Amino acid sequence: MLRYRVLDYESIPFQPQALACRPVTAPSTALALVGLDKDVLDLVRTSPALELVGVFDLVDPGGELPYLGDDEAWAAVRAERPGLKVLLTVDGPAQRRRLADHYGADALLSVVSPAAHVAAGAKVGPGSLIQRGVTVMTDATIGKGCKLNVNATVHHDARVGDFCTLAPGALLLGRVTVEDEAYIGAAAVVLQNLRIGRGATIGAGAVVTADVPPGVTVAGVPARLLTP
Ligand SMILES: CC(C)(COP(=O)(O)OP(=O)(O)OC[C@H]1O[C@@H](n2cnc3c(N)ncnc32)[C@H](O)[C@@H]1OP(=O)(O)O)[C@@H](O)C(=O)NCCC(=O)NCCS
Repeated sequence: MLRYRVLDYESIPFQPQALACRPVTAPSTALALVGLDKDVLDLVRTSPALELVGVFDLVDPGGELPYLGDDEAWAAVRAERPGLKVLLTVDGPAQRRRLADHYGADALLSVVSPAAHVAAGAKVGPGSLIQRGVTVMTDATIGKGCKLNVNATVHHDARVGDFCTLAPGALLLGRVTVEDEAYIGAAAVVLQNLRIGRGATIGAGAVVTADVPPGVTVAGVPARLLTP
């Protein structure tokens, strides 16, 4: 049976190989989502290691998941449930960094889908979300607070900084460096050895053939500057 690896933000070792799989018979971890990403909901609700108690969001997103309030409700909710963990599901890298500060490192959970592949020698930082179908190849490094969406691929020796987002199907070839808070759009390809600057945005479907400076948006094939 596939099992989810459920990881505490602070206490997990950096090497994914050392992460403990929580036995399905162990008490489950109470978890709230921050932001409603239906694909993340689908990932966590099927884990027997998690008790999904609700969602924090700006407004009640509706549906069957109980609404716990906006971010300001966190202190009161946690006072009632001291062990409650949160999983940051929002896509925006800078927003995720702010939320990590607000909710606190000790409350953040990392989830690595059992249907992801993290190769030998690869590292995944704390507070990161690794969706189904993700591949992190040999000696690649993923920073903290990252979101690797469905079917994203990170090839050997690539370096992904903190709070980066890889949208579905994004592909980083070998030895690519992605600096903190960068966003790689769906199905974008970054060719080997290139560097994506801090906070840069890569449009969906782009093929990046040159280094991208910090803070800019590029798109197209080959990728060209959209915003200065
Ligand atoms: C690149 C991106 C960030 C630009 O967003 P934006 O700043 O709002 O840009 P706009 O939608 O105003 O488009 C500006 C121009 O860029 C073009 N453009 C937008 N996205 C593009 C893309 N991915 N590839 C090529 N051209 C693109 C538009 O056609 C428009 O061209 P025009 O001025 O000739 O009409 C966005 O379109 C994108 O690709 N985001 C990633 C989406 C994604 O992967 N989502 C995953 C969700 S899980």
